[in-house]
Amino acid sequence: MKLLIKNGTVVDPASKREGHFDLLINNGTIQKVERKISTAADETINADGLIVAPGFIDLHCHLREPGQEYKETIRSGTAAAAAGGFTTVVCMANTEPVNDNAVITEFIQKKAKEEGIVNVLPVGAISRGLKGESLADIGQMAEAGIVAISDDGRTVMNSALMRKAMQYARGFGLLVISHAEDETLSGASSINEGLVATELGLPGSPNAAEEIMVARDIALAELTGARLHVAHLTTKGSLELVTAARKRGVQVTCEVTPHHFTLTDEMVRGYNTLAKMRPPLRKQEEVDELKLGFKKGLIQAIATDHAPHASFEKEVEFHLAANGLIGLETALSLSLQLVEEKLLTLSELIRLLSSGPASILGLKNKGILQPGADADITLFDPKASRVVDINSFRSRSKNSPFHGWRLKGEVHTTLVGGKVVFRD
Ligand code: DOR
Repeated sequence: MKLLIKNGTVVDPASKREGHFDLLINNGTIQKVERKISTAADETINADGLIVAPGFIDLHCHLREPGQEYKETIRSGTAAAAAGGFTTVVCMANTEPVNDNAVITEFIQKKAKEEGIVNVLPVGAISRGLKGESLADIGQMAEAGIVAISDDGRTVMNSALMRKAMQYARGFGLLVISHAEDETLSGASSINEGLVATELGLPGSPNAAEEIMVARDIALAELTGARLHVAHLTTKGSLELVTAARKRGVQVTCEVTPHHFTLTDEMVRGYNTLAKMRPPLRKQEEVDELKLGFKKGLIQAIATDHAPHASFEKEVEFHLAANGLIGLETALSLSLQLVEEKLLTLSELIRLLSSGPASILGLKNKGILQPGADADITLFDPKASRVVDINSFRSRSKNSPFHGWRLKGEVHTTLVGGKVVFRD
């Protein structure tokens, strides 16, 4: 099966290729990238006016299967991913039961193979049941094919256990993803400590709750030699810690989510549960610092933390509401704002969505458009304007605070292994 993508503007930071190129795909693999290709193909896609980018890779999403299929399934979550231009998603372990053993890992992989339309890479839990007490079956999950370990949604508060997990991870070549939140300090709060929290009469979580754990996990990565990735980083202090550690040669990377660089804690006013998440939305100064971090090249990836929840879990009193928002179908548009604001070039943005995450995961044939690479490709129109409509989302959940926002950027076609999995 041969597929030709013609007349598009290729922006591929990993191969440093940018400009008008055609791509020939043969049996799921990129065969040629050349100025003009005029071979006969089974299908030709006219990409005139579109950006042709390596398929996006989301380092952080929640697919909820097994156990919470009323929120999302592997089928609906990967459909949402494809609609958002993502060709690979890394799914967190806080399913029910928790992905803390190889049986669950294999279940996720089987489902993904049967029903998923993009690549699904499971994360295994660090601790059994995410309880932070004893280690999960890390070795067996590694054998089954997890790409990382994380208790995301919870912090491993016991430093000795985290140290042991990092030692195991290092031995198995796994990435350790840190949900950095000192729970004794945050009190599991989902709003930033500050004026808005005080006015609403809600207990807040200070920046320090995150920074303490970022510092601890960097120290443990240094001690053990493990590869550390800081999930959903939200503060200037955390970014300084990561940057300083990277300068010292510590293997640490970080991601920032579109909602954390777009929204502030002002969004929580009116007890808006769609703006309730952990870590919480911070104040404007912090958001400005994250944006500066992008400009300075201090952030290695943009990840969605796509966290689907049913309306009955969100349309309740603030303190009872579930944490998180869906992000797969708005990530590109929100991220393009960074280009609009001249904080990033389009190529730098695409790097944060593709080759950046690929290199964090150590994926060899993804995140790049060159002969021999997997034909995971996203075609999008960066200028097309749309009004976000949750009712058009593929996700099974609708908990997005961006409903009704006018945003630029539309995914046109998504290909996984040379197969069209989404077409606008
Ligand atoms: O807001 C959040 N929701 N933060 C997390 O860390 C977990 C996630 C979820 O699973 O819903």
